[in-house]
Amino acid sequence: MKKSEVILTKYSPLMAVDAKLVGSDGSPTETPRVYSLCRCGESMFKPLCDGSHAQAEFVGEREDSDKPPLEYYEGKEITIVYDRFMCMGAGYCGELEAVFGTHDAPKYDPDAASAAEIIDTIKKCPSGALTYIFNGKHEKDYCRETCIVVEKDGPLHCQGDIELKDDQSSDALLPDADHYTLCRCGGSKKKPLCDGSHETNGFHG
Ligand code: FES
Repeated sequence: MKKSEVILTKYSPLMAVDAKLVGSDGSPTETPRVYSLCRCGESMFKPLCDGSHAQAEFVGEREDSDKPPLEYYEGKEITIVYDRFMCMGAGYCGELEAVFGTHDAPKYDPDAASAAEIIDTIKKCPSGALTYIFNGKHEKDYCRETCIVVEKDGPLHCQGDIELKDDQSSDALLPDADHYTLCRCGGSKKKPLCDGSHETNGFHG
């Protein structure tokens, strides 16, 4: 299997190459080998591009490239690794409140639950913001297959071996993990990455 790619410029949609597309209902979507995905939020045929970005005069320039260093929260058994820049507020970590706190009062307490519970929770994080060190190994690659999953009313989940290529060197901002999320509402300040703006800007699709 060839490596999958997502390629774009500031003015273009996302061009996916050799990437299986999975719909928001979990079913695979038939696509040609190369296809375009909407990232301006205006397409009538989401998740695919219908050219609306031209009429919308969409410019996908990133406003926030300020990536802080990784944060390490070391516990007795497991270390939580947090890439703050990548967090888009998916909220799965909040399911383990004793460790991760709440949306309004986040925290990172790696001794407040079992390592197994923390690992299960971290593996649900789609953006790559959360990974972990266990038994001396940084675990960050755990997608079973390479594909792009469309989240209803949310971003694209890139999973597996998908290279990101664009004219803003966005690949340098990606998490050290085999998964990341790409904006498709057009509202992120971290374009082409999702920053959670879809939660508040009324994006549907
Ligand atoms: S989809 Fe645009 S910010 Fe998440």
